[in-house]
Amino acid sequence: MIQRAHKKRVIAISGGAKNIGKGIALKFLELGWNVGIIDFDKHALGEFDVKIPEEAKKSILLYNGDVSDEYAVSEFYIKLKEKFYRLDAIVNNAAIGGFKNFLDLSLNEWRRVIDVNLTGYFLMARLGVPIILETAGRGSIVNISSTRALMSEPGNEAYSASKAGILGLTHALANSLGPNIRVNAICPGWILHEDEIISEREHLQHLTGRAGRIADVAELVYFLVDDERSGFITGQYFVIDGGMTKKMIYI
Ligand SMILES: NC(=O)c1ccc[n+]([C@@H]2O[C@H](COP(=O)([O-])OP(=O)(O)OC[C@H]3O[C@@H](n4cnc5c(N)ncnc54)[C@H](O)[C@@H]3O)[C@@H](O)[C@H]2O)c1
Repeated sequence: MIQRAHKKRVIAISGGAKNIGKGIALKFLELGWNVGIIDFDKHALGEFDVKIPEEAKKSILLYNGDVSDEYAVSEFYIKLKEKFYRLDAIVNNAAIGGFKNFLDLSLNEWRRVIDVNLTGYFLMARLGVPIILETAGRGSIVNISSTRALMSEPGNEAYSASKAGILGLTHALANSLGPNIRVNAICPGWILHEDEIISEREHLQHLTGRAGRIADVAELVYFLVDDERSGFITGQYFVIDGGMTKKMIYI
């Protein structure tokens, strides 16, 4: 098969233009993978593009589109296949958040969060899996959820529901796509954005004495994508939060 002749592995990452998604993209570029990114922030994609060294440009595809738009996701994969010929892994990372008093939350606002955070993950998997099966034969999906799938603060209904939905989607897909494709989720706690600075007190509330780094998540994604390291793991979620979900707080 022609496609199998293309040895360099390929990962598709949604929301890879900045912060956690970008960190994951850079990690896989460093590891010698080809990386396709879909992100709806044109400005962030442009900033990312100018920082990529010329020799790395052949290894990256930057596509400006919305993951909740079936046409955009489909066109992204067409371009990815045209450029790299194969697909081995998908990282669903693009999401929107935002707190809003529950009684002020409109149906449209609720739907937008579910559309991006849950339907977007479905679309990336639904349209990407046939390409993995056709070109690489086997692969892995990593869905970025949140500790807010497991616990909440007030005014977080849409985001928490979308992130909990991702955990259900993850174990359902693991059942549907095994044995060739493993599917796992990651629930990050507080992961500092690029250039974000927080107080000593905010750091020290974590059992680890510090908040999370983008590299912490990227490392776990790599572990879950790599068959050699995690080949017996599927359908699971992994909390990476400095212990915050194990810390009892009554006041
Ligand atoms: N940073 C944290 O503390 C934290 C904690 C828990 C979970 N997470 C999860 O990690 C993931 C990344 O978070 P982050 O902090 O890097 O967020 P971020 O907002 O900095 O980055 C998200 C990226 O997704 C893109 N995006 C958003 N909606 C999109 C859409 N409809 N189509 C295409 N691209 C879209 C954005 O443009 C952005 O580049 C998200 O799933 C988030 O819910 C983050």
